[in-house]
Amino acid sequence: MLTDSFGDVTITSDGATILKEMDVQNPAAKMLVEVAKAQDNEAGDGTTSAVIIAGELLSKSEELLDKNIHPTVIIDGFKMAQEKALEVLEKIALPVDLKKQDYLKKAAVTSMASKLVAEYKEYLADIAVKAMLAVAEKEDGGYKADVDDVLVEKKTGESLKETSLINGIVIDKEIVHSGMPKRVEKAKIALLDAALEIEKTEYDSKLNIESPQQIEAFLKQEESMLKAMADKIAAVGANVVICQKGIDDMVQHFLSRKGIAAIRRAKKSDMERLAKATGGNIVSNLEALTTKDLGEAALVEERKIAEDKMTFIEGCKHPKAVTILIRGSTPRMNAETERSIHDALCVVRDLILEPKIVAGGSAPEMEMSKTLKQFAEKQSGREQLAIRAFAEALEVIAITLSENAGLDPIDILSELRARHEKGETWAGIEVLSGKVQDMSKAGVFEPLAVKKQIIKSAAEAAMMIVKIDDVIASQKMKTPPMPPGGGMPPGAGMGGMGMGGY
Ligand SMILES: Nc1ncnc2c1ncn2[C@@H]1O[C@H](COP(=O)(O)OP(=O)(O)O)[C@@H](O)[C@H]1O
Ligand SMILES: [Mg+2]
Repeated sequence: MLTDSFGDVTITSDGATILKEMDVQNPAAKMLVEVAKAQDNEAGDGTTSAVIIAGELLSKSEELLDKNIHPTVIIDGFKMAQEKALEVLEKIALPVDLKKQDYLKKAAVTSMASKLVAEYKEYLADIAVKAMLAVAEKEDGGYKADVDDVLVEKKTGESLKETSLINGIVIDKEIVHSGMPKRVEKAKIALLDAALEIEKTEYDSKLNIESPQQIEAFLKQEESMLKAMADKIAAVGANVVICQKGIDDMVQHFLSRKGIAAIRRAKKSDMERLAKATGGNIVSNLEALTTKDLGEAALVEERKIAEDKMTFIEGCKHPKAVTILIRGSTPRMNAETERSIHDALCVVRDLILEPKIVAGGSAPEMEMSKTLKQFAEKQSGREQLAIRAFAEALEVIAITLSENAGLDPIDILSELRARHEKGETWAGIEVLSGKVQDMSKAGVFEPLAVKKQIIKSAAEAAMMIVKIDDVIASQKMKTPPMPPGGGMPPGAGMGGMGMGGY
């Protein structure tokens, strides 16, 4: 539970969110926050793992620096270890058949296992998989998929079980006028980024009216200008108007008389999505609107959701537009659900882009660790110490998972080491049963892309910080005495950061 300086509360078990909301001062810690951001941008999941491993790498570097191993040697060793670790991951990864959705679903479920929404993970994972597959497109040899093509809307409801996937776009706005149709089939949609109002001038203008006739003439003129707006929209053949700006009452009235439904003050992001989905153009000058600019959808309908009205635009011209409508029982629950669904969508996207998977529960980290220890033995230079340190740092995932499962990490770690030595690639710790087992049989899967990015983000951050220490150390020698507060202790003591989230 995080409280910001305005007193706003966020409840989350999402590592990336925790770090984003924390007010971090220490420069090394700031780098770790950067690790989380990089991981979130690149893979969308695995932030906690990346930060925990980065922290462990830093604390191992500190030990090496204390033993007078030069930072460049540490960096070289880490680089070799990183490459080797990525090789191991590629080797053990299993191919995924995208036609069968079972692996996609299992990976989506795994990404939500540690979240507050875990109770509904199966149900929500199913929605995430369907949503992402709906927007994925074939592209030379593979697929492309963009998480932003899945619109996520939230409305307080009875339970997350009511969360649904809509084949189209849902906007949190109602039809503006009670006389307008609430349901329009074969919709021709005008997307306007222009106010359907008479612009107020910037100057204070004074109107001298000398007779009632003049008032009447003035109002008439205004009315005819507003009517012309509605006429123009009708003339191009639109039966729905979605406007990013305001719509004058009078225009609403004229539109409703023509049977045209309208929505005002739509969000810019919704406008862009609508344009993409319906094939329409956003027009910022009403005069320039033509029939060709209209978007198309099979149905536009206002529906009552909880206490509010929302508008559903379904069966769009471009079918790759879907919306997940989250219906948790409180706004805070909805916010956390949105974050969890985002992780799940990212995981599915990762698999669509690179259909390869590994089992989780620390199995891949232990496998990398084993191979790196053997690899270190074969090196002659002092780099071998750094490679070994890297191997040991990877074990922090198994340690963290066993601690979180309430088990003795030392026992678990020795059992895991032994079983990996014996060739059990997928031996890991299943946290729900608390047993060391074959994680591929336990059904805990994660995208290869997430695991690779964890190694890259963590290693790069650690190398960067070790490099900075190098600079400070040599400056220290040149310019004694140190200014107060200057000079960061190697590793800055971030080792074993007690991140929650598992
Ligand atoms: N049932 C499970 N048993 C063991 N490990 C699991 C299970 N479910 C998830 N995990 C592991 O938890 C880790 C992910 O935890 P999570 O809180 O999502 O952090 P991250 O931010 O790193 O994704 C992964 O290593 C994954 O394999
Ligand atoms: Mg995760």
